[in-house]
Amino acid sequence: MQTMTLTEPATVWTDTDRRMMARAIELAANGVGQVSPGPLVGCAIVSPGGEIVGEGFYIFEAIKHAETIALDLAGEKARGATAYVSLEPHAHYGRTAPCTDALIAAGIKRVVAPIEDLNPKVSGKGFAHLRAAGITVQTGLLSEVAEQVNEAYLHYMSTGLPFVHLKLAVSLDGKIATRTRDSRWITGAESRARAHELRHAYDAILVGAGTAVTDDPLLIDRSGLARRRPLVRVVLDDALRLSPSSQLATTTSQAPVIVFGGSDSPELRAQGVEIVNSNRGNLRGVLQELGNRSLQSVLVEGGAAVAGEFIDAGLVNKVTFFIAPKIIGGTEAPSAIGGKGAELMADALELERVSVVQRGSDIEVTGYPRHEG
Ligand SMILES: NC(=O)c1ccc[n+]([C@@H]2O[C@H](COP(=O)([O-])OP(=O)(O)OC[C@H]3O[C@@H](n4cnc5c(N)ncnc54)[C@H](OP(=O)(O)O)[C@@H]3O)[C@@H](O)[C@H]2O)c1
Repeated sequence: MQTMTLTEPATVWTDTDRRMMARAIELAANGVGQVSPGPLVGCAIVSPGGEIVGEGFYIFEAIKHAETIALDLAGEKARGATAYVSLEPHAHYGRTAPCTDALIAAGIKRVVAPIEDLNPKVSGKGFAHLRAAGITVQTGLLSEVAEQVNEAYLHYMSTGLPFVHLKLAVSLDGKIATRTRDSRWITGAESRARAHELRHAYDAILVGAGTAVTDDPLLIDRSGLARRRPLVRVVLDDALRLSPSSQLATTTSQAPVIVFGGSDSPELRAQGVEIVNSNRGNLRGVLQELGNRSLQSVLVEGGAAVAGEFIDAGLVNKVTFFIAPKIIGGTEAPSAIGGKGAELMADALELERVSVVQRGSDIEVTGYPRHEG
């Protein structure tokens, strides 16, 4: 991701600055599942004595932005206070009046916000408006954390394509199913619960026809958490092998199903499945189509062929493997990533910013592909 920190003289941050910005980012995360296609935003209004006098976070349906919610709570105490906001406040008229106007009118003296909003309507303009009004604006604090919280939004804003997160469950020997294609379940209950938390954070979930036909999955968000829009279920199915009586095709009233195929199927359409005619092999086109529908993030859940195609095309932004301490074995059992793969070790896709978390007896490994250049 490109760096979004503004060039400015280095700021000396206090412990209060760090704590309050961490709080603003923590508040922002309360909106997961309830803001897309907008950003996650949190705000803490802090008195000169270091006391939080108002806080808020954005959720789309509430309309009000994090800053105005926090300012309303702070009331008169906002005068002379510092506003810690996890993202640049907006300065244009959208669904609400500009938050910059609200901050200025409330008498805020200083705004600390880690990163610019990459939405072209906002980018840089919010900070400029605040500075023009005489407010001290400081950026860069905890910017990596703030970028990560909004990684899908920022990617979507800068590319128009959804953020792609590849998630797979694998055995210790790297298999995603047995030689008979049985894959339920490789990982334990903790990993599977975590996988539903991941689904909750995404706008769409995508699998290949092989998985849709073999596993007959439902692909819904079972996190139990509130979400603004149903998880859109996407199947790459050039030959339209998905059965009209599959769990996906018979549950379109619960959540949409979009199939990218090379022809048409009146039977699937009669079930409410949307069929998008697409060129086999044009994965970028698939993502563009999803992006055009304001879907800013997609969780790719396999199988091997689809995972390999995404990796080969360099279209994966984040990877999570849940690794179970089981050995499946068998040369016929599919390994996690198909496609062409690397010719030399030097060409292997390396992950950076790697985190490792134990989930029951499984391990969750997450990282970001290092794209050269
Ligand atoms: N452990 C896990 O995390 C996990 C997750 C998912 C699946 N699985 C397992 O993986 C196995 C299935 O994997 P798989 O490799 O056989 O199948 P897959 O990757 O799910 O699906 C491959 C098929 O998707 C279609 N496809 C791929 N790219 C496409 C594109 N760009 N446009 C249109 N269609 C496209 C093709 O269908 P056509 O050949 O018809 O063109 C292709 O054969 C199952 O056993 C499943 O249980 C495991």
